[in-house]
Amino acid sequence: MAVRSRRGKLVGPYHIANVVGHRYNNDMPRPLSPARREIVLSDIQATQTLATSIALLALPGDVVALRGNLGSGKTTFARFFIAARGGAGEVPSPTFTLLQVYLLPAGEIWHFDLYRIENERDVLELGIDEAFRDAISLIEWPERLGSLLPNDRLDIALDFADRADARRALLTGQGSWVERVVALAI
Ligand SMILES: Nc1ncnc2c1ncn2[C@@H]1O[C@H](COP(=O)(O)OP(=O)(O)OP(=O)(O)O)[C@@H](O)[C@H]1O
Ligand SMILES: [Mg+2]
Repeated sequence: MAVRSRRGKLVGPYHIANVVGHRYNNDMPRPLSPARREIVLSDIQATQTLATSIALLALPGDVVALRGNLGSGKTTFARFFIAARGGAGEVPSPTFTLLQVYLLPAGEIWHFDLYRIENERDVLELGIDEAFRDAISLIEWPERLGSLLPNDRLDIALDFADRADARRALLTGQGSWVERVVALAI
């Protein structure tokens, strides 16, 4: 249903909810705001626990953007994530190859390291559209994607903490990840 605002403009259901103060009902898509969690990773086992929990919540088509400086733990997180979904072999850093693909029984994982990418066209040549459609994408240096980075995603920003093997992880879930971040049992 669309109604006219006082200025005569057609407005959609979200505006109706705001203007007349109705609560959303179950027939309306909810514009969920991003969910945030900050988790202290006191050692590498804590990183493994977090990566495993998230790996078990992930589904084909999901995008996990791994942010943080050199050495903050993005590849380490990806290794634990891939292992938790049945990856039994080595997980080399895609620093030079840009992309490593894992064909696992639970679905494909495409692990990108876009540090060396210079423009968005080069990413498209890697087939990232196919990854977004069918696989789980783990993306180091997701900033390089610009507007190609899907909005429906989980961001994990890793940062150094007070001890050498401690990190802070700031999780931000958008779209289908909002409820999963809220429900994360960690
Ligand atoms: N709690 C922790 N979580 C993750 N990594 C840790 C932790 N404690 C120590 N480390 C160490 O920090 C290093 C992280 O390196 P890693 O290659 O994962 O970083 P990166 O963010 O992928 O860097 P780059 O931007 O160069 O790809 C590893 O040597 C890892 O063993
Ligand atoms: Mg790395």
